[in-house]
Amino acid sequence: MSASYSFRNVTKVTTHVLQEMKVKGEKIAMLTAYDFSFAKILESTGIDIILVGDSASNVMAGYTSTLPITLNEMIYHASSVVRAVKRALVVVDLPFGTYQGNSKEALNSAIRIMKESGADAVKMEGGKEIIESVDRILSAGIPVMGHLGLTPQSIHKFGTYVVRATTEPEAAKLLEDAHLLENAGCFAIVLEKIPAKLGGRVTGELKIPLIGIGAGGEVDGQVLVLHDMLGITMEFSPRFLRRYHNLSEEIKGAVDTYINDIKSLNFPNEREQY
Ligand code: KIV
Repeated sequence: MSASYSFRNVTKVTTHVLQEMKVKGEKIAMLTAYDFSFAKILESTGIDIILVGDSASNVMAGYTSTLPITLNEMIYHASSVVRAVKRALVVVDLPFGTYQGNSKEALNSAIRIMKESGADAVKMEGGKEIIESVDRILSAGIPVMGHLGLTPQSIHKFGTYVVRATTEPEAAKLLEDAHLLENAGCFAIVLEKIPAKLGGRVTGELKIPLIGIGAGGEVDGQVLVLHDMLGITMEFSPRFLRRYHNLSEEIKGAVDTYINDIKSLNFPNEREQY
């Protein structure tokens, strides 16, 4: 059986393709997107997974944490992304408060995301504490990506964004949670801000792909927040973040030139009017 399927001449990245990539040792590339225009640019590259992350709460809405974003807002972002994407796998974060309460509510939230946005999978933060919800969502045929290590939806419990699982008991809990998620049937797990050695250990022990963000180079793939790696958001500079561009400066430069052109009567010129 083929791990991907073709529709209108586009070969879709499926969860099975990702599994094959892990087996072959081919690294997985994942980035966030929250709107149609950026998703369209990402889709024109070779990106494997597009994450409609609840980091939209920070990046798009300007909140200081991921907690305030609602299910309706996530569905709005996700459906905008899905309209631009044929090839990449689109994963959507279940936002805070939509799956931790009980598994029935979790399933309803996941079904709304899948039905109303057309996404391919959901992502959920946590291990043992949410396993009942993970089980229920998976049993409805919805692919689930886990998320362990630094879980921003629990920021008020931890009070800090420092590296996670640096002690032996924390590392043991993370390993146990990773196995639980794999055994439940998750297709992949994001590991955020943990020691590189632990990232390598989890990756070696599990059969499903591990996608790191600040989890070192021995994981099966990497994810970054698009606006951070493009240099649009400049306030956030963790060690794991590599900035590939300085887009905020380029945008400012273009806007300054536009303003100058208007003020100096240089825009519009003869060819730019009717
Ligand atoms: O919301 C998000 O963007 C994420 C990534 C940082 C993995 O969960």
